[in-house]
Amino acid sequence: MNRPRELWMTRIGFVFAAAGSAIGLGNLWRFPYIAGTYGGGAFVLIYLLAVIAIGLPIMVAELLIGRSAQLSPVGAFTRLGKNKWWKIVGWLGVASGFVILSYYCVVGGWIIDYIVKSSLNLFHGRSPAEIEGMFDILLKNPLLLVFYHALFLLLTTYIVSRGISMGIERWNNILIPVLFGLLLLLTINSLFSPGAREGIKFLFHPDFSKITPAAILEAMGQAFFSLSLGMGAMITYGSYLDRDTNLMNSAAEVCVLDTIVALMGGMIIFPVVFSYGLAPSAGPGLFFKTLPVAFSFLPGGRLVATLFFILLVFAAVTSAISLLEVVVSYFIDERKWGRKKAAFLVGFAIFLFGVPSALSSNLLKDVTLLKGMNIFSSLDFLATNYMLTIGGLLIALFCGWFLSRKTMEEMTINGNNLFLYRIWRFVIRYITPLAVLLVLLQKTGIIAI
Ligand code: PHE
Repeated sequence: MNRPRELWMTRIGFVFAAAGSAIGLGNLWRFPYIAGTYGGGAFVLIYLLAVIAIGLPIMVAELLIGRSAQLSPVGAFTRLGKNKWWKIVGWLGVASGFVILSYYCVVGGWIIDYIVKSSLNLFHGRSPAEIEGMFDILLKNPLLLVFYHALFLLLTTYIVSRGISMGIERWNNILIPVLFGLLLLLTINSLFSPGAREGIKFLFHPDFSKITPAAILEAMGQAFFSLSLGMGAMITYGSYLDRDTNLMNSAAEVCVLDTIVALMGGMIIFPVVFSYGLAPSAGPGLFFKTLPVAFSFLPGGRLVATLFFILLVFAAVTSAISLLEVVVSYFIDERKWGRKKAAFLVGFAIFLFGVPSALSSNLLKDVTLLKGMNIFSSLDFLATNYMLTIGGLLIALFCGWFLSRKTMEEMTINGNNLFLYRIWRFVIRYITPLAVLLVLLQKTGIIAI
């Protein structure tokens, strides 16, 4: 049976939905802690370059591929690619979605715990050191972590099981603007804290001696992660777009929104870090150790904190939805499963696969995979810095060199500026693939720049 594909109701609905996929834990949890670990300003600068030279062109490419094929990633590569091997890019994307979601839900679970903590007013009146310690205590509780991991995944699975425009679009239109407002409030609050000057300097003043191959790879990986690229999430979103949408503008809007939120995340967190003598390189716990400190000093902090963590769970769920959708749409489009069955079976498999990540800070804390990192960090490192970037490289090559000229020129039909189109075409053919390749080769030591 061939049901017509559901389409987004409005263009702005689409931009919000795509921004909902992009804006999530990547901006507020991952970006500040990676920036903190890799030296602040210099990292941020490379990150911004990666967004412009790699992220934006690939986002346009993914949307174009999805819209032309009107299929999920695996189907899209099968239909548009003249060679059956292109399918592998789709499968790589399905694998990336599976792996990333398995630990993404663990972090989503941490946020749920922080809703509970802030609604019970547990941060109030505690010293920054005590608040920092609360995160470490949470990490020692395996049962609670698995429970929250399951809860977050259940929420995500439920929404995906109900279908795209009904589920996703409705939520995003309301929640993104509210989250934005709250972030603005928190940014202003942080800018008035005693460590504001130092925090902002750390974030925006590049110290070029901190630029290492590892930092460059992390910055590029972070751009892929934060913009939801390299695994076909945006291909899936593009497949629900109609022909009248201006892809270039939509992609640019999504990139700008996503980057603003990441920078706000940094501007909220680093002033707190420097105000209370915390460490910028605290790792994955940075967000959880600093934000509640800011709330504990804020008038009405309990209410604001609770609202903030609730909104953040929704922002995280809207990102998780797009990770799950890539995997689920494979089973719907290629295996002809029903949506409900696909969503719940895949959701359950991801739950099982994610349990070791939830336990990587307690029962399994001595298990290390890559370079001495625990299971959680190893999966994150591998998926973000290699699976997404290699996926992105292949997507750029596919779009630039193998997509038919006719399909590419579809972009110029609906109000796209021809000059911009030519620039994009040049960038996606030469600049983007070369940049990704150079970073990968440099990191693996095959070449040295
Ligand atoms: N971009 C999302 C975030 O920042 C995560 C994500 C990555 C979603 C890849 C889809 C695909 O939280």
